[in-house]
Amino acid sequence: MGLTLTEKILKAHIVDGELIKGTEIGLRIDQTLTQDATGTMAYLEYEAMGVPRVKTELSVAYIDHNTLQNGFENADDHRFIGSVTKKHGIRFSRPGNGICHQVHLERFGIPGKTLIGSDSHTPTGGGIGMLAMGAGGLDVAVAMGGGAYYITCPKVVRVNLTGKLSPWVAAKDVILEVLRRMSVKGGVGKVIEYCGEGVKTLSVPERATITNMGAELGATTSIFPSDEVTREFLTAQGRGEVWTPLAADPDAVYDEELTIDLSQLVPMAACPHSPDNVKTVAEIGSMKIDQVCIGSCTNSSLLDMLKVAYILKGKTVHPDVSLSIAPGSKQVLQMLAQNGALADMIAAGARILESACGPCIGMGQSPNSHGISLRTFNRNFEGRSGTRDGQIYLVSPELAAASALTGVLTDPRTLGEMPDFQLPKTFTVNDNMIELPAPESEMDKVEILRGPNIKPFPQTSPLADSIDVPCSLKVGDNITTDHIMPAGAKILPLRSNIPAISEHCFTVCDPAFPTRAKELGKSIIVGGANYGQGSSREHAALAPLYLGVKAVLVKSFARIHRANLINAGILPLTFANEADYDKIDQGDELELANVRKAIEAGESQLTLRDKTKGIDIPVLCELSGRTKDIVLAGGLLDYTREALK
Ligand code: F3S
Repeated sequence: MGLTLTEKILKAHIVDGELIKGTEIGLRIDQTLTQDATGTMAYLEYEAMGVPRVKTELSVAYIDHNTLQNGFENADDHRFIGSVTKKHGIRFSRPGNGICHQVHLERFGIPGKTLIGSDSHTPTGGGIGMLAMGAGGLDVAVAMGGGAYYITCPKVVRVNLTGKLSPWVAAKDVILEVLRRMSVKGGVGKVIEYCGEGVKTLSVPERATITNMGAELGATTSIFPSDEVTREFLTAQGRGEVWTPLAADPDAVYDEELTIDLSQLVPMAACPHSPDNVKTVAEIGSMKIDQVCIGSCTNSSLLDMLKVAYILKGKTVHPDVSLSIAPGSKQVLQMLAQNGALADMIAAGARILESACGPCIGMGQSPNSHGISLRTFNRNFEGRSGTRDGQIYLVSPELAAASALTGVLTDPRTLGEMPDFQLPKTFTVNDNMIELPAPESEMDKVEILRGPNIKPFPQTSPLADSIDVPCSLKVGDNITTDHIMPAGAKILPLRSNIPAISEHCFTVCDPAFPTRAKELGKSIIVGGANYGQGSSREHAALAPLYLGVKAVLVKSFARIHRANLINAGILPLTFANEADYDKIDQGDELELANVRKAIEAGESQLTLRDKTKGIDIPVLCELSGRTKDIVLAGGLLDYTREALK
């Protein structure tokens, strides 16, 4: 039986487990990337692991999210990342060099390689035939240290592309159609693999738009084959030598299939407030707009920008519309400047932004209240734009530019004949904003620049023989990661400072908790059902770790938070009988005698002694072989450190 392209790459990288769908497998990771919002912690974690030089083939740190540098914290984070990468063998893409995924595609992506990045849109690399996945900062740190990256062996969906896009219909419309059909939950546990005759009609940047926004399907990743089009793109980037042809076997078997006839697609938009709320432009009708933002890792390639410049050339942006454009990389911006397209944009009245994430991550350009904003981005969740009642529509660059001129939602097919836009045979290559690491022989001379906001990763220790500590906090059902570790403009800059960010831990529930936990030294938290729901924020486990929390005992956990607790070396316990939750009070002295021996022996049923009440409470601790070893070692960092010895 033939293999899918996904299976071929998985097979070449599997180091633990077997290619059986739905089971956990460990993969060797060839490349990693980080962005600054998640990168600082990833590098603190990497430092804590004690591996002198990265073991990946290539690791790159990008600064693209918080580039405004309001206050010293951001600037300190950037300097820290710049120095820590220099020492440990990682390339550093400076602020202004571009958005991580755009630059990685241009300068570093290699077909057939595995890439994980501490950013959910890392699957952009699938446009060039990489198996590229978004991951947590700690996962990236472990991969840099040479550890495996664990995923659930995915199902593979074949998306068969036929035909060719009509003029002014875009790659964005292809992924919007996939989202319309599969929904934002439709890709969970799956890789979306694009095949068929229509593939060769799409350029690499167009393919990357499609794989980028596959993240909105909830998919593990998305991937295109590596073909002649890929070879031409890499050659034009001066990297033709890294090309290899890659495709699924003709008799490959897929778990699901769907067909999209490209020639039947029409311009579409994802309407507020979900990327799968897709309608055609005709269905939405002629809607007045207030703002247009063009850019983001989804649609900021040279090809996108050349189309936008062509549409704007010689015209003026509608007086009721604010149009901003952020080219995706320094390469794109420089080439636009060289060929005059940038001048056309400026002359039309576009506001040119830095090559960075910018408005996509809420760094400026929030729409006016109730404002309607057309964006070429990938997410339109309520409030993400910075305006609570902003109405965000996700569209192609062509549709965005055409609408910026008219002030109403405009079908770009009304623009008339479309020129044959082609990528250049040679891109302008100038990597002077990418700093190389120091040679290994000189790494000891590199000073790590730690501003006052950069604090080391919290101390961890192997699981103790027994846990005999008080309950420092008792909370109810549906505690979210926002309760545990609130976000917000004041707290976000403290991500690289666990002692400082811990002062905010659980303060929405109990302002006295951080002080009390520190005074107690070690403690247990007791909670209700669905504890830790919400985001994958690892700080919701790291702050309790810093505050001395040894175990969390609840009625039930949200899956990702439970995994984060294990990674932090905090014991995740559940009540065998939920009713026992009522028997424990905050302040009770709790004891798990000989817990280490029990976990080592693979026992999942433990007994918690409430010494204050004088009662025994049965609790469960269900760990697999690997998670058991992680907890015993004191967390994923210690486990990896041991495993790599
Ligand atoms: Fe940046 Fe937005 Fe992409 S924050 S990495 S441009 S999704």
